[in-house]
Amino acid sequence: MSDIAEMRTPYRSTADTFDLDDLVSKDPFKQFQNWFEFARSHPHIEEANAMALATSTKDGYPSVRMVLMKGYDHSGFQFFTNHGSRKSSEMSENPNCAIMFYWEPLKRSVRIEGKVEHISEEDSAKYFHSRPRTSQIGSMSSQQSTVVESRKCLQDRYDELKEEYKDENKIIPKPEFWGGYLVKPSSFEFWQGQTNRLHDRMKFRRQRDGEVIDSKLTHLADDGWVIERLSP
Ligand SMILES: Cc1cc2nc3c(=O)[nH]c(=O)nc-3n(C[C@H](O)[C@H](O)[C@H](O)COP(=O)(O)O)c2cc1C
Repeated sequence: MSDIAEMRTPYRSTADTFDLDDLVSKDPFKQFQNWFEFARSHPHIEEANAMALATSTKDGYPSVRMVLMKGYDHSGFQFFTNHGSRKSSEMSENPNCAIMFYWEPLKRSVRIEGKVEHISEEDSAKYFHSRPRTSQIGSMSSQQSTVVESRKCLQDRYDELKEEYKDENKIIPKPEFWGGYLVKPSSFEFWQGQTNRLHDRMKFRRQRDGEVIDSKLTHLADDGWVIERLSP
């Protein structure tokens, strides 16, 4: 095993500590917005919207990959992909999934768990046509996650479609096998790394039916959410 035990970065957080009073909102979506917009404006973060998406088969066999978040609001977190992909087949048999952002220069991470659903064909088509034509053709030319003989096969298919749609006025139809998903959160965790490894973890979860709140540990938040601090 290669010895990388010496890899150790002194974490520097933007805030000295991150406590309940430092939450900008008791609404987890607004808290996410605050952190995301801050990450997005950071000069050393190029893709603040890159997130790991974890899915699993109905038997509980997990897989994870990166995708780009393409929108968020109180309804959830949106991304787009190929419906024939491994992730899509797992999401169709098991809607439970998790997403995670890590903004390394800020030593901040957000973990979200929830259920995924399809977005409408209309919204998928709207986003598809907002992309550069080269990306539209790229999506059309790939049967994502299937085995392909060579890079040349991919390139040939791409070139063929590029030729077919060389007239800029010819609309590229959104393929039926491509579209968007929405992750509807049931929990959020906001993690702030700290130099002394006493990292801050604030978790928002839904208040359970009939749950009696221990106000030392659990804090009522907005819209049926509660907040708890987790040990690092
Ligand atoms: C930063 C980054 C962003 C990505 N964004 C997407 C995306 O938005 N949609 C997508 O289908 N694949 C995206 N990919 C590729 C996926 O990680 C993955 O290779 C692909 O979706 C196939 O995954 P699957 O076989 O698990 O379905 C991205 C990869 C990286 C590294």
